[in-house]
Amino acid sequence: MALDRFGRDIHYLRISLTDHCNLRCVYCMPEDMTFRPNKEMMQDDELLLLVRLFTSLGFDKLRLTGGEPTVRAGIVDLVREISRTPGVRHLTMTTNGVLLGKLARPLKEAGLQRVNISLDTLDPAKFKRLTRWGSFDQVWEGIRAAEEARLAPVKLNAVVVRGYNEADVVDLARLTLEHPWQMRYIEMMPFAGATELQQTQVVRAAEMIERIEAALGPLELLNEGELDGEARLFRLPGGVGTLGFISSVSLPFCATCTRARLTADGKLRLCLLREKEVDLLKPLRAGASLEDLRKLILDGVWYKPWGHGLQEGKFALNRVMSEIGG
Ligand code: 5AD
Ligand code: SF4
Repeated sequence: MALDRFGRDIHYLRISLTDHCNLRCVYCMPEDMTFRPNKEMMQDDELLLLVRLFTSLGFDKLRLTGGEPTVRAGIVDLVREISRTPGVRHLTMTTNGVLLGKLARPLKEAGLQRVNISLDTLDPAKFKRLTRWGSFDQVWEGIRAAEEARLAPVKLNAVVVRGYNEADVVDLARLTLEHPWQMRYIEMMPFAGATELQQTQVVRAAEMIERIEAALGPLELLNEGELDGEARLFRLPGGVGTLGFISSVSLPFCATCTRARLTADGKLRLCLLREKEVDLLKPLRAGASLEDLRKLILDGVWYKPWGHGLQEGKFALNRVMSEIGG
């Protein structure tokens, strides 16, 4: 078991498979984003070795992220290998959905259990403005394909940006009247890269809830307000799906955080919003023993930070979101 000094049992690992992406969302990266060279990235054998190490330390919940994880070469085979690793109980992916029309079924057959798909608006013109390169129809087809492949329950993620999609929270919420989906709203967070927009155009969860309730009626709070992972859950009157609000900025969930992150270049990152990282790939390539690597992981986890500084206007600048994987 990997414990930190605050007694948190860290057993959820989010693995960024690549920093590349086939979209350029305004809240995530600049359009002219440059990526790191492939040789600095974990290769399949290195990644699988680290996955085995983490599972041997009690990590049982893995989420594959990016950038966009589906653009990694050989993604289906890699998912199959990860899902076969002893100790992996939950295997999920966060994706922009662009390639799911083609990949949903093979990924499910390879052992992927669920997906979270980004969907910020139902309006194709706004979708293009937010994602720069994306097509709403293609992502919608990806969502349907995920559902057909039983990568369920489908969860949808919307990052809400003032001046782009703050009014769209209502139409997105309406989806849960018909579909057993979880529509999750994310407060935009500041990272390096697109920071000006990220700091000035944040919409708080309280405002999103106000907009939804004004249009669709009072929301019913679920789980007595207990967080489901990082989300506070609600239901619309008569809804079959649920609404989740991830208030990283206005209501941090650090006390119940059980997660660590592995970046695509093989660094263990202990908090999304803090710069602290432990390099695992360099020692691995330099011939460190499994025992040495295990110790690096346990030490890193032990010193996992508590609390981010967003409310004081402090944020991590060493990486953009696509390098950490959300
Ligand atoms: N703030 C919050 N979430 C973000 N994502 C990307 N950039 C940001 C940001 N600035 C989310 C995407 C996706 C995941 C990869 O990260 O919506 O769900
Ligand atoms: Fe790509 Fe996701 Fe970033 Fe959009 S938010 S650019 S889909 S990594």
